[in-house]
Amino acid sequence: MSAALSNATFAGIPRASIVATGSYVPSRVLTNADLEKMVDTTDEWILTRTGIRERHIAEPDEATSDMGAEAARRALANAGVAAEDVDLIVVATITPDMGFPNTACFVQAKIGAKNAFCFDIEAACSGFVYGLDIARQYIGTGSARTVLVIGAEKISCITDWSDRSLCVLFGDGAGAAVVQSVPGRNGILASVMRSDGTLSDLLKLPGGGSRHPTSAETIAQGLHYMKMEGRDVFKHAVTCMTDVARRALDRAGLTVDDLDLIIPHQANQRIVSAIGERLGGAPEKYYVNLDRYGNTSAASVIIALDEAHRMGRLQRGNRVLLVAFGGGFTWGATVLEW
Ligand code: UT7
Repeated sequence: MSAALSNATFAGIPRASIVATGSYVPSRVLTNADLEKMVDTTDEWILTRTGIRERHIAEPDEATSDMGAEAARRALANAGVAAEDVDLIVVATITPDMGFPNTACFVQAKIGAKNAFCFDIEAACSGFVYGLDIARQYIGTGSARTVLVIGAEKISCITDWSDRSLCVLFGDGAGAAVVQSVPGRNGILASVMRSDGTLSDLLKLPGGGSRHPTSAETIAQGLHYMKMEGRDVFKHAVTCMTDVARRALDRAGLTVDDLDLIIPHQANQRIVSAIGERLGGAPEKYYVNLDRYGNTSAASVIIALDEAHRMGRLQRGNRVLLVAFGGGFTWGATVLEW
């Protein structure tokens, strides 16, 4: 293994560990039966094609930062860390509260993390894994001691509720991780991040930016709604997540059999199964909760990690793989010791 290898590789550099997590989903649940009344779909189609049964939808007055702040409060409480002790807040989201200020600043104000500096990152569904890698770098250089990494999304506000090919897939929610260097803990062993901007057309939110500033025309064209070429995205998601998971395992000096838990991005049960067939490892190692939350984009991996911990699926020293894929395309994998 790897502990010796990774300790040698990172000799003298502070290691980053997730010391606690928290998550929050809105109370309103939208079931497949509810969707049957909204668009031309069936519970059977949604369940067999995606594995999703229901998803949580935020209230109209509930913004991404409200959900992110609640997840952060829970993570900080679980860590026993005061908000004043947070040095950096990174929010990963494609549904920020507004164009600017950044959503991390709104979270900062809500939780009272007055000593933190704050920024957002946009890596779509890979956002939390990318954010964790950023936290790792700040901690590794000694620039920050406590980093709050949050994945938070209100995907319902960029969803065309008349488009059956998309509206059945997504949900709202947030998760947060407190990341610190802890003596004696190996924490993050390896991470590999990848992108391919030549495939940006396959999954996007075209309107509202500098390319198509919001106007009556862009709204009439529906450019303020997410667009996806589902079949193409599916194929790339499987190939890219399998490849990057292998690369991260290689970099950590581990094989899939060394892992105790695998947390893939929660987009589609068929994607998770296809990765499982290629990567190997016992099916029960793959944690899946997309049946109850749908695809929560940047929040999906951290909501699943937090839930897995609360369900007793993680013990200290367990080895965990996080792997995600999203628009951009972006994808990445992190291998860590819990
Ligand atoms: O988080 C970022 C990454 N996102 C993903 O990873 C999502 C990747 N893509 C997928 O998960 C799948 O491609 C979908 C779940 C989006 C779609 O599944 P699919 O098996 O690829 O279906 P399809 O798009 O090929 O559509 C098959 C049929 C079509 O009808 P025809 O053309 O065969 O007559 C669709 O019009 O299913 C139809 N269809 C639906 N039928 C009932 C599409 N959406 C629905 C629906 N209910 N909600």
